[in-house]
Amino acid sequence: MVIRKKKRMAVEHVRITVFDTTLRDGEQSPGCSMNHQEKLRLAHQLDRLGVDVIEAGFPIASDGDFEAVRAISQVIRRPIITGLARACRPDIDRAWEALQDAARPRIHVFLATSDIHLQYKLRITREQCLAQAHEAVAFAKSLCPDVEFSPEDATRTDPEFLCQVLEAVVAAGATTLNIPDTVGYTIPSEFGELISTIRRRVKGIENVTISAHCHNDLGMAVANTMAAIAAGARQVECTINGIGERAGNAALEEIVMAMRVRRDRYPYEVGIAGEHLFLASQMLSEITGVPVQPNKAVTGRNAFAHEAGIHQDGVLKNPLTYEIMTPQSVGVPDSQLVLGKHSGRHALAIRCEQLGYQFDRRALDDIYRRFVRLADKIKHVEDHHLLELIRDTHKPAASATPLFEPIPAVASAAASVPAREASRETPRPFPLAQPGNAFGLTLTTPADPHHDQEDYLWGV
Ligand code: KIV
Ligand code: ZN
Repeated sequence: MVIRKKKRMAVEHVRITVFDTTLRDGEQSPGCSMNHQEKLRLAHQLDRLGVDVIEAGFPIASDGDFEAVRAISQVIRRPIITGLARACRPDIDRAWEALQDAARPRIHVFLATSDIHLQYKLRITREQCLAQAHEAVAFAKSLCPDVEFSPEDATRTDPEFLCQVLEAVVAAGATTLNIPDTVGYTIPSEFGELISTIRRRVKGIENVTISAHCHNDLGMAVANTMAAIAAGARQVECTINGIGERAGNAALEEIVMAMRVRRDRYPYEVGIAGEHLFLASQMLSEITGVPVQPNKAVTGRNAFAHEAGIHQDGVLKNPLTYEIMTPQSVGVPDSQLVLGKHSGRHALAIRCEQLGYQFDRRALDDIYRRFVRLADKIKHVEDHHLLELIRDTHKPAASATPLFEPIPAVASAAASVPAREASRETPRPFPLAQPGNAFGLTLTTPADPHHDQEDYLWGV
């Protein structure tokens, strides 16, 4: 008898390290500076969120930065805490001093490597750059076992020279090699190739973590970061809401959700608690006073809002029709149906139900016609508008308020609840327990395909 052993597929659990630099690179963006207490508050939220590394500041830059790195090191114990340093002893000493109490300290050393930076900014030769990078990393390593090195402006650096520098710092003891697209210049295919080149060419690369740090000048920071992961980067540097120098850094919430939603393409583990993303985004916005753009992916006000009738109808039937992730998965309380001129009858009926009114088909048609006329005049139809409209629909035409044009009465009773008062009522959960309401009106949910099709067309 032949006994066949079942072959076990080796499941690789590769983890992507999430390095948050909201408190360092993010804080460098105009209008985003934070005071000591605010930095601590945000650091606690980053901890709750589950980030693996918090870059708490640039200790030599100011006493405030130094104190923030020190305080965060003292109170936040789970993640690695890092402080930034230029490739020189005073910076590295100061960073190390600030990190003294950290449970898991990391020194992050950077030095520009592109010819344009060497020639105009640092005024040093490539040879000097190579020597300085090696010496600085060796010094940092003599203080701290965990050392990250960043060749600033890596994407505009001659790849041959970049690999030489990276090899030198690996030999000096760097444990993470961060590849910054400092000026947001690269594109996904090119950045992916650069990461592959580094993996192929740099001696000792198998013992270190490759990291991506992308800026958003061409709007490609997240796409570039994703390309880097696909090519073998295992750390991503990012910020909440994508804040950062100029056009910002890659947004943490977008990278994380891209990995979660497209796990088929990115089968990696990430330690982020998605349900804390929205809160982190809101907290940062509240602290800095910089609003989140409404159409911001994942955490913007409109990220889960649906106004078009076709979309609202689809989402009400099954959210998967127009939502690739649930609002709850990122901590947004619920998706919102915004009632405006693009809304359909289905969404209108649901909102009416939430306000306590159920209508039969004909009554709903009447309400809907008036609703569309109103929505043409005002952008968003709020609940109190809707309540007035419901009341007016069933009033004699002469007493109609100027906002709403009278329409012929239909077989429905008048709403007796004063509109403003009713609008203060807590919306009732949907669906209502009992069909019909005080006015004896019922909502008939379309059951046949013809009705469905009608709904679909109506809300365009
Ligand atoms: O963008 C950049 O190059 C940086 C480095 C200091 C990592 O922020
Ligand atoms: Zn940066």
